[in-house]
Amino acid sequence: MCNRKIPLFYPIMKTDKKLLIKAIKGEPVERSPIWLMRQAGRYLPEYRKIRSQEKNFLKFCYTPDYAVEVTLQPLVRYGFDAAILFSDILVIPDALGQNVNFQEGKGPVLEPITNKKDIQSLSLDNIHKHLEKVYETVSRLSKEIPSETTLIGFAGAPWTVATYMIEGQGSKDCTIARTWAYRDQTNFSRLIEILVKATSMYLIKQIDHGAEVVQIFDTWAGVLSNSQFQEWVINPTKEIVKNIKNVHPKVPIMGFPRCAGMRYLNFIEETGVDGVSLDNGVPIKWAAQNIQSKCTVQGNLDNAVLIAGGEVMEREIYNILEGFSGGSHIFNLGHGILPQTPPENVLKLVQIIREWKL
Ligand code: CP3
Repeated sequence: MCNRKIPLFYPIMKTDKKLLIKAIKGEPVERSPIWLMRQAGRYLPEYRKIRSQEKNFLKFCYTPDYAVEVTLQPLVRYGFDAAILFSDILVIPDALGQNVNFQEGKGPVLEPITNKKDIQSLSLDNIHKHLEKVYETVSRLSKEIPSETTLIGFAGAPWTVATYMIEGQGSKDCTIARTWAYRDQTNFSRLIEILVKATSMYLIKQIDHGAEVVQIFDTWAGVLSNSQFQEWVINPTKEIVKNIKNVHPKVPIMGFPRCAGMRYLNFIEETGVDGVSLDNGVPIKWAAQNIQSKCTVQGNLDNAVLIAGGEVMEREIYNILEGFSGGSHIFNLGHGILPQTPPENVLKLVQIIREWKL
């Protein structure tokens, strides 16, 4: 909650008009702001068209002309309340010196880290140089987006990024990474420490360049046992939040410990995030009673219902709007938008949010 008093002679700040920032700060808003995770992506024909010009996905992310344009595409089409920087969570392993590739039809492929020596070969020395085009994209976006739109920066959380670095690809249960964390805690925590530092540096720089909110994606948080969740999700996130707040105390931070279940509660109490993104498995009533009283919630429409569309989609949207109407809420999906999503269903969703009255 922001209790800052603004002197009368102060010029009206750009942020005063931004619905999403008001919602994160717990201030009253006329409706829930809306944006969607992965709102720039393959479900949009205009994205596929520009993406076909550059086969190498990382190069595409590191080219500001492309990254700025695709970040803006969903805003032009739908007028979302936020723009999220177009990049990927795996630019961090790339910047640390690991070999990262994106293969069509397969997703990310990395040369896996398997031992202490591999961890020692990662270096924080070049990350800002390596990521300077991403920072340039953020700067350009902060000048180009409409004044009522919020610019969101992001990074992957250390645990989720570590799973890709160790598994060498996406994995639904992250067995190799989970086993390593138990078997060789010393070296696993070294890797997490490097990622805490890199992620903090990266997010602080995004904010320096104009990001107004940052979100930390912990896509694979839910696979961890309770003790491991504390160690590899809560503690590293808490440290990142502390590092960012030391430099930028007023910039809101959103966490997304996907599939954390009842541990969402410990997560918000211990990490100090300003808001939390809920996956679609979280019961709305429970979250409204137990989480929304403590921080802003974001979510949590099933991304599959956005493919299905029609009446069932409308019902699910109204359930969320009604369920979270008692406190601060940002409308979003429970996970990223899927490539099969019909763009007209997204339009319908945005229209419903804009017109909704309790
Ligand atoms: O939200 C946005 O619009 C911003 C862009 C964004 C991308 N990835 C672009 C992208 C964001 C926020 C991400 C985050 C991300 N990346 C996460 C965390 C959120 C989540 O969805 O769980 C993860 C786990 C990744 C890693 C990643 N990147 C995977 C597993 C894949 C392949 C799967 C897939 O959808 O193809 C990617 C590739 C990727 N990142 C694409 C986009 C638009 C598709 C690449 C393409 O255009 O060919």
